[in-house]
Amino acid sequence: MTDAMPHLDDAGENDDVVALLKQQHNHIRDLFAEVENATADDRAEAFRRLVRLLAVHETAEEEVVHPAARRLLQDGEQVVDGRLEEERAAKEKLSRLDDMNPDDPGFMPALRNCARTCFSTRLRRNSTSSPGCARRPERSSLP
Ligand SMILES: [Fe+2]
Repeated sequence: MTDAMPHLDDAGENDDVVALLKQQHNHIRDLFAEVENATADDRAEAFRRLVRLLAVHETAEEEVVHPAARRLLQDGEQVVDGRLEEERAAKEKLSRLDDMNPDDPGFMPALRNCARTCFSTRLRRNSTSSPGCARRPERSSLP
């Protein structure tokens, strides 16, 4: 864990969650690449794995990261509300992809667009960011 990703509480029990979420970020990136590089026969299954992991990841963030950010950041409500709006946009794009046949010529451009939505905003905020994670509270903001 870097200084950019401090503990969410003094107990340190959330460290495992943060580490897991960061691992998932890497796995999500890998799965986007896997879908893009898959053969036509394997693309649908790779996309299913990506959708499943994104759903699990978003749930973890909603249950752990967002409440902590709302509680610990000075502008937590605004930060989380912004994240939820970004996540809503990503979910809409993912839903449209889910309705497409992976063999559709528009599938891959739509997949790349969805990946950019999932990652770009977070990458502008800090180097440890990733899809769907709210900004971590600074250590100095802890109670
Ligand atoms: Fe995330």
